[in-house]
Amino acid sequence: MSDNSTKLEFPPRPELFDFKGISLTHYFTDNWENIQNFQARPDDILISTFPKSGTTWVSYILDLLYFGQSLPERLTSIPIYDRVPFLELAFPKLDLGVDLADNLPTSPRLIKSHLPVHLVPKSFWDQNCKIVYLARNAKDNVVSFFHFDRMNVGQPDPGDWNSYLKRFMEGKVLYGSWYDHVNGFWKKKQTYSNLHYMFYEDMIQDTELEIDKLCSFLGLSPSDEEKKLLRHELKFDNMKKNDMVNYSLLPVMDGKVSPFMRKGKVGDWKNHFTVAQNEEFDEDYKKKMKDSPLHFRTTI
Ligand code: A3P
Repeated sequence: MSDNSTKLEFPPRPELFDFKGISLTHYFTDNWENIQNFQARPDDILISTFPKSGTTWVSYILDLLYFGQSLPERLTSIPIYDRVPFLELAFPKLDLGVDLADNLPTSPRLIKSHLPVHLVPKSFWDQNCKIVYLARNAKDNVVSFFHFDRMNVGQPDPGDWNSYLKRFMEGKVLYGSWYDHVNGFWKKKQTYSNLHYMFYEDMIQDTELEIDKLCSFLGLSPSDEEKKLLRHELKFDNMKKNDMVNYSLLPVMDGKVSPFMRKGKVGDWKNHFTVAQNEEFDEDYKKKMKDSPLHFRTTI
């Protein structure tokens, strides 16, 4: 399914437009009413991220924790985007995210969304659902997003790196401002106790420790056998080879342009930012994050 003839069947790349305070394409707004009216259940778990923060990684962790032992056949037969539906997605030839989520047979239902905190469907808050938020430092995030937009024809055309970086700083990429996204969920966490806030850099530094903390939040105590399975499955190289999590089965993404599982590193931004771009970015970052208590590591 990854030949070029299949890819040519896709419509032209979509345009971004302003939508309720962020930038989106119609693939994420076409089903808007059903998204906002989604009926969450109290045991649903929402995985929230700004795109390219490691969403797939944390989705796979949760899926393995809940179902790795009890439903092992899932691991080899159901792609991660069907196990953990992308709530707001309405993409041609794919099931609607809302329908997939509605029809999940599992308990809990694991659901992914990139919506900023002010657009998360109300029922998640009303039902006091657990929310796992994963954030990644802006510099590595923008680099990962740039390459993702290159390889995914369902995304707006990224243009050249310099203009992309500027648009990221202005919040003119899919899902708008990274700065508002990470701060919005952090602020929410101060009043909503069922939100667990994680950092990609901590995950890279000590995956097991971060999984332990996640398990305390979820009230899980994985056995040694489960931990062993997680250790094996979650290795970057193993996920990269695993067609059920590396997005190689989706024709809209072209892994030859840039693989979905690209580098998985902290600090790859240094291979992309020029000295001038870095200075400009840092200056702008200080202004945008001046009131934020969040501290991101760009190297470890
Ligand atoms: P890079 O493009 O920097 O390699 P998302 O799932 O939100 O789209 O995020 C994708 C990013 O998470 C990619 O970053 C990908 O390589 C990284 N990632 C996924 N699984 C990982 C893992 N097991 N270890 C480290 N990074 C991982």
